[in-house]
Amino acid sequence: MRILTAGVSAYDLMIRSHRFPGTPRPPFTLGVDVVGVVDELGEGVSTVDAGGRVAALTGHDGGGYSEFICLPSSALVPVPAGVDSAEAVCVVANYLTAHTAMHTAAAVRSGERILIHGAAGGVGTALLELGREAGVEMYGTASRHNHDLVSSLGATPIDYRTEDFVARMRDLTGDGVDVVFDPIGGARQMWRSHRALRKRGRLVWFGVAASKDKGIRVIPASLVMLGLLKLIPDGKRALTTPDAQKDSTQYRDTLTRLLDLLAAGKIKPVVAERIPLVEAARAHELLERGGHAGKVVLVASEER
Ligand SMILES: NC(=O)c1ccc[n+]([C@@H]2O[C@H](COP(=O)([O-])OP(=O)(O)OC[C@H]3O[C@@H](n4cnc5c(N)ncnc54)[C@H](OP(=O)(O)O)[C@@H]3O)[C@@H](O)[C@H]2O)c1
Repeated sequence: MRILTAGVSAYDLMIRSHRFPGTPRPPFTLGVDVVGVVDELGEGVSTVDAGGRVAALTGHDGGGYSEFICLPSSALVPVPAGVDSAEAVCVVANYLTAHTAMHTAAAVRSGERILIHGAAGGVGTALLELGREAGVEMYGTASRHNHDLVSSLGATPIDYRTEDFVARMRDLTGDGVDVVFDPIGGARQMWRSHRALRKRGRLVWFGVAASKDKGIRVIPASLVMLGLLKLIPDGKRALTTPDAQKDSTQYRDTLTRLLDLLAAGKIKPVVAERIPLVEAARAHELLERGGHAGKVVLVASEER
């Protein structure tokens, strides 16, 4: 397929800076989510049309920061007409991850109370939008300069840099929340997320954004803490998100539903910045600096 837009994610930064176990050795190409036009079909492929616009997860091999990529037809989902390719690529990894965390792992119910860490980030803003669709009461941690965005997406913002989010949640809710979504990781962070839960609450851990400052040791620390939290007989649960692409039918059905929500205007992904593909290094500098909100998107020259 000929790529029109590719997502840039915290995961790409981790892979590039060798902070992740199993990281490929250079040379390799980053990029796990793409939107593009089907250039040529493999033999016997009938699920997509040549010339049609499609969205896809590229899988753990990456390859999205490219002009062309060869992908299995099982990874491709048609993009509805009229949808912006930069907004569509936000849906692929971020909304799919958010959907899997919210509806498969946590199985949230309307009226429940949730806390989203990293609420202004790519996955965080997706969780906020899907949470609004699901009818839940939302709280989100973010830096102060992102609080207006978090409020505009329907959550009560908490400044994780200056406030104790456990104490703040007790003040705001009395007994805590039903679900905490934690993409930050680290032993202390996860322990505190667990403490912010009310009786029978669920902690969903799905990332290690803390590794940006604290390095790779956050990964074993998070895994050990997850194991310990599972052992505590307090009725609370500590969960992870399943691989969104493990069941290819479910992956395509969910991505199709999310792209339909986008086409219907029911979700509006936050695009932090559109950056030409040839300036991918600048996109990484932006992510490394932090302070952005939403998803950084690389755009092919003809899409601009
Ligand atoms: N398991 C999966 O399938 C999967 C898929 C996608 C992503 N992820 C993981 O999810 C994480 C987030 O990804 P992303 O693409 O959304 O990253 P992102 O857009 O860079 O957002 C990260 C956010 O984390 C916030 N943050 C940093 N430290 C924090 C802390 N201590 N407490 C609260 N917020 C904090 C930052 O907020 P401020 O700027 O407001 O300070 C930033 O908005 C990454 O670790 C990534 O690997 C996992």
